[in-house]
Amino acid sequence: MVDRQRPRRSCLAVPGSSPKMLDKARGLPADQVFLDLEDACAPLAKPEARKNIVAALNEGGWGDKTRVVRVNDWTTEWTYRDVVEVVEGAGANLDCLMLPKVQTAEQVHALDMLLTQVEKTMGLEVGRIGIEAQIENAKGLVNVDAIAAASPRVETIIFGPADFMASINMKSLVVGEQPPGYDVGDAYHYILMRILMAARAHDVQAIDGPYLQIRDVDGFRRVAGRSAALGFDGKWCLHPGQIEVCNEVFSPRQEDYDHAENILDAYDWFTSEAGGKRGAAMLGDEMIDEASRKMALVIAGKGRAAGM
Ligand code: GLV
Ligand code: MG
Repeated sequence: MVDRQRPRRSCLAVPGSSPKMLDKARGLPADQVFLDLEDACAPLAKPEARKNIVAALNEGGWGDKTRVVRVNDWTTEWTYRDVVEVVEGAGANLDCLMLPKVQTAEQVHALDMLLTQVEKTMGLEVGRIGIEAQIENAKGLVNVDAIAAASPRVETIIFGPADFMASINMKSLVVGEQPPGYDVGDAYHYILMRILMAARAHDVQAIDGPYLQIRDVDGFRRVAGRSAALGFDGKWCLHPGQIEVCNEVFSPRQEDYDHAENILDAYDWFTSEAGGKRGAAMLGDEMIDEASRKMALVIAGKGRAAGM
């Protein structure tokens, strides 16, 4: 079965065309790696990149990392060969395929059906390989609920800001930063919230996409903090220097984690003391109830997953 609870605070992009980077990625502290056959690989480099990726997955050494391969989108001529070569060659050593520029639920069905055929042919467990769906244009966003619900294989919905900004004609060249001239709020708020609602409604993870100014660590931290604050599960890293920032930003702060555990302890103690008859308790000056317990569970759950 697919796993929709994998840690994905940091999702490192690795070009499939670079054996050197594929090798280096193994030792980096990212929760997830995605080995890219799409925009990081030039058209003529794609056949070689498929081979590099199969070899890198089969060589192993990825530890606990979630191993993902990004295939090309269905409007190209490359998708079927990406899927067949990678899953036939390394299906047992692969956790998910990422499908970019998803516009409809049918595009997810198509990948699901192709995956099922390859799994059957190769004697792999049918349905184990998950799908990560990238939302990168207006049509994808409008259909995001159906996309999230399209297959039990869907594990994440990912915001692809670069392609998205281009597709809606946003008047900006800096991915993830506010477009110049828009000074009345966050230009990405609606998109991020729309993706987050679809993800939560269908019990899949929500992942924020790349930040291209790779030397601007403060900018990265600020932009990552925005989606983390809303409730996103993680963000892409295009450079090793972004990984630790992601792991930190998408984990709770120590004081919030400690507070969440205190809320859970206090709530359990009060409710058991009262023999199940009291719904609210006090922690210092703070009143806590069933809803506060749920909020605390979210923070405590993230902290426990991060080993706090
Ligand atoms: C990622 O694929 C993006 O377009 O931002
Ligand atoms: Mg893209």
